[in-house]
Amino acid sequence: STDGVLSGKRVVITAGPTREPIDPVRYITNHSSGKMGYALAAAARDAGAKVVLISGPVTIPSPEGVDVQDVTTAQDMLEAASAAVDEGCDLFIASAAVADYRPQTCAGDKIKKSSEEMALALVRNPDTLATIADRKDAPFTVGFAAETTDVAKYATDKMQRKKLRMIVANDVSVPGLGFNSDNNAVTVFWPGGQRSIGPTSKQQVAGSLIELISEHLKDSP
Ligand code: PMT
Repeated sequence: STDGVLSGKRVVITAGPTREPIDPVRYITNHSSGKMGYALAAAARDAGAKVVLISGPVTIPSPEGVDVQDVTTAQDMLEAASAAVDEGCDLFIASAAVADYRPQTCAGDKIKKSSEEMALALVRNPDTLATIADRKDAPFTVGFAAETTDVAKYATDKMQRKKLRMIVANDVSVPGLGFNSDNNAVTVFWPGGQRSIGPTSKQQVAGSLIELISEHLKDSP
C-alpha cells in the first residue's frame, strides 16, 4: 500500500499534450490523452502528497483534491511548472508529451491555400523536464521516455543527459498501450537498477510507480 508514503511532500506533475498554434484555427499536437499523468496525480494524492498538476489540453475530469493548472503550449508548461516548483517541490514527474518544436511564428490570420506545396518553419521548444532537473534546488526529478525502438538505450541516455533520478520508459510501438489508451506497460530505470510494471491499467501503473519512486525518494540525500 502507498498509504501516507508521500505525506507532507509537495509533488508537481506534468500531463497531456501541448498545442502549438500555426494560425488562429490550426495547431500541432500529439495523441496524449493525459490519462497517465492524471492517474499519477491521483496516486500521489492518495499517498498523502499535496499535488499540482500542470496539464495540457485534455478532455478527462480533474482529479479531486489536486491543484490542476491548465496550459496550452510548451512555453506555457515551462512557465507554470517553474512557478509551481518555486513554491516548493520535493518530487517532479514529467509525464506530458510536449511538442519538441513549434511554428516559428503564429500567423495573425488564417493561412490561405495557394501553391501545391508549402513549408512550415519550426523552432525548438524549451524542455521543462531538463530545466527543472538542472535547477540548483532541483527536486527529485523523474522523466518519461516515449520510444518506439531501442527503448532501454534511449531511455537511459535521456536519464543521464537530462540529469534525472529515475526514468519511466514507455514503448509506444505496442498497440493498445501508451498514448491515448487505458492501459500501459513501462520499465523504470535508475542508476543501478530497473523494474518493469504492467501491462495493466494506467491506475495500477501509477500506483506502482508512486510506490517505487517513494522508496527511492526516502533513501535519497
Ligand atoms: O497521456 P496518455 O494518453 O495517458 O499517454 C501517456 C504517455 C505515453 C504520453 C506517457 O506515458 C509518456 O510516455 N510521456 C512522455 C512522452 C514524451 O513526449 O516523451 P519524450 O521522450 O519526448 O520526452 C522525454 C521527457 O522529457 C518526458 O518526461 C517529457 O515530459 C519531457 N519533455 C520533453 C520535451 C519538452 N520540451 N519538455 C519536457 O518536459
